[in-house]
Amino acid sequence: MSTQGAESFGKPVTVPRLLRMKERGERIAMVTAYDATFAQMLDQGGADILLVGDSLGMVVQGRETTLPVTVDEIIYHCRAVARGTSRAMIVGDMPFLSAQISPEEALRNAGRFLSEGGAHAVKLEGGRSAAPTVARLVDAGVPVMGHVGLLPQSVHAMGGFRVQGRTVEEAARVRDDARAIADAGAFAIVLEGVPSDLAAEITAELHVPTIGIGAGPGCDGQVLVSYDLLGLTPNLRPKFVKRYAEWFEEGRAAMTRYRDEVREGVFPAPEHGFGVVREEPAAAPSNVLRIGGYGPRG
Ligand code: KIV
Repeated sequence: MSTQGAESFGKPVTVPRLLRMKERGERIAMVTAYDATFAQMLDQGGADILLVGDSLGMVVQGRETTLPVTVDEIIYHCRAVARGTSRAMIVGDMPFLSAQISPEEALRNAGRFLSEGGAHAVKLEGGRSAAPTVARLVDAGVPVMGHVGLLPQSVHAMGGFRVQGRTVEEAARVRDDARAIADAGAFAIVLEGVPSDLAAEITAELHVPTIGIGAGPGCDGQVLVSYDLLGLTPNLRPKFVKRYAEWFEEGRAAMTRYRDEVREGVFPAPEHGFGVVREEPAAAPSNVLRIGGYGPRG
């Protein structure tokens, strides 16, 4: 895909590079992506990590939770994202029950993300009880990003999307979960929905980067759902999201302008049409569908 006009943000992002970023105090910018066009835009915009998150179940498929998302769906979206990405690390999110049944089944699924989906790493939700699975994957050469704190795949067990670690007991559990996942070999850990002080303490303690979402400024990096940061989720305004654009409103207004211009006969204007070919062109005529196109372009 084209990189014309894009600022260069340096070499491809790798696991060793992320570890060096933590050592140097350079913050990591991670964002979700689900298709090639968004991936191209976010990659060229400087994203360090593109997460093909199971949040696609909610923002792309319109579901209430992430639970119905399947391994095949994540792989499908990983492939699309890989086609649009040249610098960012691509992380495929292991959906509900793809990593929980056994470490062997988790390895089979995770392997497909890398071999079929073109992902560079996987993300896996879960604390201490997921550590043996993380260790198995890492041992087999699959880079794993952990995910502790608020676990969307455990939404029913947690009684909703609730901040985790507010009591002394819960804070000790989140800290222990993060330690166990780091010790099992994860190269980074997402801290979701965790009080800012606790996230900063965990970040200071771990040798691997923490990536926060709703976990305050003390993490080594941040992750947001791209649809949230671009203002594409009109009915959702979580406290931890900052919107950097208002694309839903802009898109809706653009649609209305287009509709009005079609109705009024303003679009298409003469310059949007094709002329008559009066002589046989030497080369292929410009109104022939080109490989890779989806309609006449010339
Ligand atoms: O699925 C997802 O998008 C995530 C991030 C919000 C961390 O897991």
